[in-house]
Amino acid sequence: MSSRESRFAGSTVVVTGGAGGIGQAVCQGFAIAGANVAVVDVHAVEDAARTLASEISAETGVKAVAYAADVASRAQVTDVMSRVVSDLGGLDVLVTLAGGSLGTPKGLEEITEEHVDLVVDVNVKGTFYSAQAALEHMGRGGAIVTVSSIGGRQPSPVTGVPYAASKAAVVGLTRRLAREVGQRGIRVNAVAPGLFLTGRLQTMYDEMPEAERREVLDAIPLDRFPELREIVDPVLFLASEEASYITGVVLDVNGGRFMPL
Ligand SMILES: NC(=O)c1ccc[n+]([C@@H]2O[C@H](COP(=O)([O-])OP(=O)(O)OC[C@H]3O[C@@H](n4cnc5c(N)ncnc54)[C@H](O)[C@@H]3O)[C@@H](O)[C@H]2O)c1
Repeated sequence: MSSRESRFAGSTVVVTGGAGGIGQAVCQGFAIAGANVAVVDVHAVEDAARTLASEISAETGVKAVAYAADVASRAQVTDVMSRVVSDLGGLDVLVTLAGGSLGTPKGLEEITEEHVDLVVDVNVKGTFYSAQAALEHMGRGGAIVTVSSIGGRQPSPVTGVPYAASKAAVVGLTRRLAREVGQRGIRVNAVAPGLFLTGRLQTMYDEMPEAERREVLDAIPLDRFPELREIVDPVLFLASEEASYITGVVLDVNGGRFMPL
């Protein structure tokens, strides 16, 4: 086994939103690199999470376990993190992928109080509760990778205002947390993906008028959409020893569409 393939051997990694489009690929990426994986997702996709966990175990030989929890519930997240530690023997890395615009509309007139609450509860509170609960079990060392979005870094035609606000909030949360836990040797970084055409986004893109689709693609200097591997690798990098002196950063993974100074 090469060192890249074994770089997470013996570690336990928790992935919230682990049954989602990016989440599944991230869980598989960590398992291939030797980590035991906790796939955390909502009850509605419990079956998908279980299937993924058993496929991962069968294919890679690591331990993978599925857990149903709503990350917006602090009690549920706290309970899951304790169960992970007792089932898998520790907690070294947390990746907080649970989130998205969650089917909420982007038009100002259509956005209700419930839509705002849902997006903020899952993306912002969910990220915070997950990190807070995981940190109780991470002694010295370890890494947290949070998930912002290009939509939180610059105005995006694909998502609405509450999503933009929530993903910008994830950046502030990430930096403040990095400051807080740095002395424990724990690193906290964010990835900000551009458009990855996972299930629902592929449908949204396919339904756009041709001119709008061209506009989306023209804005990407690399002139193509990414493969899932192209978000998995940056997440694994930030979680790994290769990033041992990197904390509090936002890694933009968007083919050059947003280039901050
Ligand atoms: N796909 C993209 O282009 C893109 C771009 C930027 C950021 N992101 C972010 O990456 C993350 C994953 O995106 P994706 O494309 O895989 O989306 P996805 O919808 O396929 O996956 C999200 C997962 O989160 C789970 N989830 C939702 N609410 C939850 C809750 N309350 N508790 C626990 N789990 C919950 C869903 O069940 C789903 O499995 C999201 O945070 C999204 O905002 C995605």
